[in-house]
Amino acid sequence: MAGGFGVATGGTEFKAKFTLLLLISCMISASGGLMFGYDVGISGGVTSMPDFLKKFFPTVYKNQQVSGLTGNYCKYDNQGLQLFTSSLYLAALIATFLASYTTKTWGRKMTMLMAGILFLAGTIFNAAALNLAMLIVGRLLLGCGVGFANQAIPLFLSEIAPTRIRGALNILFQLNITIGILVANFVNYGTSRLTNGYGWRISLGLAGIPALLLTVGSLIVADTPNSLIARGKLEEGKEILRRIRGVDNVDPEYLEIVEASHAAAEVKNPFQNLLKRRNRPSLVIAIVMQIFQQFTGINAIMFYAPVLFQTLGFKSDASLYSSVITGGVNVLSTLVSLALVDKVGRRILLIEAGVQMFLSQMGVATLMGLKVKDHSNNLGLVFGILVLSLVCSFVASFAWSWGPLGWLIPSETFAAEARSAGQSVVVCTNMLFTFIIAQAFLSMLCHMKFGIFLFFSAWVLVMTLFTIFLLPETKNIPIDEMNERVWKKHWYWKRYMDDLEDGPKGEDQV
Ligand code: BGC
Repeated sequence: MAGGFGVATGGTEFKAKFTLLLLISCMISASGGLMFGYDVGISGGVTSMPDFLKKFFPTVYKNQQVSGLTGNYCKYDNQGLQLFTSSLYLAALIATFLASYTTKTWGRKMTMLMAGILFLAGTIFNAAALNLAMLIVGRLLLGCGVGFANQAIPLFLSEIAPTRIRGALNILFQLNITIGILVANFVNYGTSRLTNGYGWRISLGLAGIPALLLTVGSLIVADTPNSLIARGKLEEGKEILRRIRGVDNVDPEYLEIVEASHAAAEVKNPFQNLLKRRNRPSLVIAIVMQIFQQFTGINAIMFYAPVLFQTLGFKSDASLYSSVITGGVNVLSTLVSLALVDKVGRRILLIEAGVQMFLSQMGVATLMGLKVKDHSNNLGLVFGILVLSLVCSFVASFAWSWGPLGWLIPSETFAAEARSAGQSVVVCTNMLFTFIIAQAFLSMLCHMKFGIFLFFSAWVLVMTLFTIFLLPETKNIPIDEMNERVWKKHWYWKRYMDDLEDGPKGEDQV
């Protein structure tokens, strides 16, 4: 039998073709990424629109109008304004625990459908908002959608993907996130020019399109064989596996899934189970990867690029324009990751990007330190272009490393028995740290000034060292063979695998 718990394996390459059903399933499920990305990208532009500020944040609006009242670095330092951006992530981190229950008991497909419906409801509240309360309720609903979508989709993708292209298919999710951000940047660029006061409503309302795509898509898509089998639908699971792989004999893979799902079925309390010794390596890696992903500082740029570029003295148009450029770089560089991840592996991408992100951030900090004073109002063309290029270099390297791999690696390293609960911890940690950055960045910028980029670069150094010493390579390893072929062989993590010999029921050592 191929792989599984307590069974030594020589490594299995299951037979699979690239089928239309696989492609369609991936495209539909990854559209949840579009929705998430659109939300990430839209808030920065909206929060720099005068009509929006006048209606919901009059103090910020006033500060902006009276020149010289606040220094460059503190123009947008307002807790309420940051709460508009961050409330979504707060809701998402709570929702993901509920989503853990639904992905396990009702399946990945159903959870994606619920995400789509929540997104639609949130969009309606936002676009029709008459006051701050409606706006925040809308953001909270969107956040619940993100919690459900980000829980179910990476699992869905990693489970339906044939091993040898699992990395690339999983990255479709991230690719859609980046496309969502870019589309949001374009939309903001267009709507910020409208003079009828409806610009922000259109920006927020257009989120309905990806929300609808995900809702309708998840009605069409089939659930993963792993999820069907785990819920006792063995025949249906096998049939979907056959169709999705495009081969008649799927027995070896089917048996491995059944075996993994038996182990998973023995788990009574999934979160307690997650704390068991044998799950410790994947849990630690999953948590620190989320913290590291957010402490690269990427969302300082994704959420607040227009605001940041205005701080640098770019005019309002130029700053929206610049965020379209960084958005474009983000999408194109994700394609690089998609092409390389299953060939060169995960570690090389993360290590190369660590060096590039570090140098780019040090460069931005130095230029800002030299040129952006509290009341200076222009960087000048040469410095402006230099800063923009360094920001692009930072975004590019993030986009082929921590962006996609932050989601991919945790979704493929948990054993089946810990996968749903593990993914909740992943999403929850990610959202918690996204929330912290969203809530704190504008205040940190105000107080630490250009030093904020030194702060992020120090984190990049730490995460690169972590990758070099502690992150194993998971390229081309079947998803249900990680314990045997990755953790048991790793110089450090193998010590946590000592309770595996007795199978999942073995004595736990803490
Ligand atoms: C992160 C988001 C980020 C996006 C940028 C994602 O992987 O989770 O927080 O905004 O990448 O492309």
